[in-house]
Amino acid sequence: MSRIAYVNGRYLPHRAATVHVEDRGYQFADGVYEVCEVRGGRLVDERRHMARLQRSLSELRIAQPMSPAALSIVMHETVRRNRVGDGIVYLQITRGIARRDFAFPEPANAPSVVITARNFDREGGERLAAKGISVVTVADDRWGRVDIKSISLLPNVLAKQAAREQNAREAWFVDRDGKVTEGASSNAWIISRDGRVLTRPAERGILRGITRTVLLDVIEAQGLVLEERPFTVEEAYGATEAFITSASQIVLPVVRIDGRPVGAGIPGKVATALRSKFHRHAEFS
Ligand code: PDD
Repeated sequence: MSRIAYVNGRYLPHRAATVHVEDRGYQFADGVYEVCEVRGGRLVDERRHMARLQRSLSELRIAQPMSPAALSIVMHETVRRNRVGDGIVYLQITRGIARRDFAFPEPANAPSVVITARNFDREGGERLAAKGISVVTVADDRWGRVDIKSISLLPNVLAKQAAREQNAREAWFVDRDGKVTEGASSNAWIISRDGRVLTRPAERGILRGITRTVLLDVIEAQGLVLEERPFTVEEAYGATEAFITSASQIVLPVVRIDGRPVGAGIPGKVATALRSKFHRHAEFS
């Protein structure tokens, strides 16, 4: 079955799904995106992802391409046409097509919209979670507006490649104070020796992950003690557990950081429980 992409009003086979060379997404990475998990053919936490999308668009002063209701219909239709049961839907909106000039086009043109969807190997994901992943730390040299989910991801690409070259699956960015900010495509968490769940506050230096937001409810329901504060790389090395969160990976235990085992070097009980309870707290649409 050929995959179908939605591109500016049309559903096209992938080989025909192209954007213009002067799309500002292509020229300047002038755009935003969202990744939503699809589970059993339904979107997970669509409402929250759409709220974050509106925020990203408004921070960058990109016009809304269509109403949230219309966008929802197109996302569901893209999932349906690609027969996605368990997977993701990817949505990208750029400032549209204009002759290359750094400042915004005047008059403002129509934003470009691309939506794709694909299946994931859910069992493979469960196997990975049961095994745990390795992460490596890299310097956080990104711009100051990482709270915007922009498609400008070059530092994240380089970080992920550095991880791969060290046989790790994720890279954790570290700020100038030696504190972990977040993963290249995930939020970062540890469990301290005294059993507290630690993650950086979303107000500065990270993307406010939707999985992170929902997980705060799971943590509360589990009766765990949460401490939202930046933690150091040293603290992470000495943690009893570590994990990452993102829409496509849910909660993924981290068993090695920079080659050192975390706790017993196997997925921790807390991370495993949080993963298994996550979808009870998520919204489906
Ligand atoms: N990444 N931090 C960064 C830098 C991310 O790129 C992501 C998500 C997250 C987690 O956000 P959420 O829980 O809303 O997925 C945190 C997506 C999945 C991606 O780029 O593929």
